[in-house]
Amino acid sequence: MKALVLAGGTGSRLRPFTHTRAKQLLPLANRPVIHYALRAIADAGIDEVGMVVGSHADDLRRSVGDGSAFGLGVTHLRQAKPLGLAHAVLIARDFLADDDFLLYLGDTYLPDGVTSFVRRADQGADAARLLLTPVADPTAFGVAELDAGGRVRGLEEKPDRPRSDLALIGVYAFTPVVHEAVRAIRPSGRGELEITHAVQWMIDQGLTVRGETTTRPWRDTGSVEDLLEANRHVLDRMEGSVEGKVDPRSVLVGRVRIEEGAVVRGSRIVGPVVVGAGAVISNASVGPYTAVGEDCRIEDSAIAFSVLLRGACVEGAARIEGSLIGREAVVTAAPRLPGAHRLVIGDHSKVQLTS
Ligand code: DAU
Repeated sequence: MKALVLAGGTGSRLRPFTHTRAKQLLPLANRPVIHYALRAIADAGIDEVGMVVGSHADDLRRSVGDGSAFGLGVTHLRQAKPLGLAHAVLIARDFLADDDFLLYLGDTYLPDGVTSFVRRADQGADAARLLLTPVADPTAFGVAELDAGGRVRGLEEKPDRPRSDLALIGVYAFTPVVHEAVRAIRPSGRGELEITHAVQWMIDQGLTVRGETTTRPWRDTGSVEDLLEANRHVLDRMEGSVEGKVDPRSVLVGRVRIEEGAVVRGSRIVGPVVVGAGAVISNASVGPYTAVGEDCRIEDSAIAFSVLLRGACVEGAARIEGSLIGREAVVTAAPRLPGAHRLVIGDHSKVQLTS
């Protein structure tokens, strides 16, 4: 079995970050989301991966390379425009040849991996197998309706009136018949070739599509809230370790990872927290549930439940919570009353806080 990982798209719900960076490269505990997907694929015993990339192709190439760091061979496949998930399968036709494959949306975070899903798909004789999970608001997802035996009766993409609460979570196993399906369908109302419609086409042809329901942790990291929550989840599972320098005036509580070359002075860090290489934390309070990227600087500030991308700087901020701060962004305080701030700031932004 091969894998096809989708890392194109526009990332519109994560603007302004996605103006300058692929959403699949935003970090969870300082590692790009897509690295977790590649690791899960390698763990499942798959070694040949096609990665569909769009306008951020160069960044993805730098981050993933030829896949050897993951024990994979990764072929980069350029999609000129984000014309839909089924379109991504269309352009991968030559790479996929006549092999079965796992389709994995590159912004999906599934910490328990896909090993058992892949094994069951390999053993089964179904045309396709879909991984599903019950969600509170199915209108934001592809939704499947199952019969008592777990066979998919019908599918809808982001329906106004969902017929079940079972969402497609972004992991699918396909046999080569899907190539016929993606050629047969037409663009949806939003102008995309929907993989949901391709699977519905297979059902309409009388082919067996099976749904596998999981209640294991899962996140689509396509929005700021979801990204922060997935980050909290990864930090919860992280081990602490100190490889950087922590001065005697500082206190580390709980699981804190200080990477090599990071410096902590006169600060209190309450885990789980990761501090990336080259970051400097001085006279500050950090954590819990905070990921500080490489080369960030936090001074005279308090920050919790947040993600700082590489090179971000926070100075004199009385309290920041639940925030995502972009690369090289600068947050400084105007000399006024302290308070809590919630920020969503794009790469290279500069913000002055007045309260
Ligand atoms: O998160 C699960 C949902 O993912 C499913 O429930 C839906 O059925 C499925 O359509 C999909 O919906 P989204 O609206 O979340 O898809 P998104 O546009 O975020 O694209 C998913 C991934 O595929 C993302 O990593 C970007 C990539 N992509 C997307 C498009 C439209 C491509 O590589 N090429 C594309 O043309």
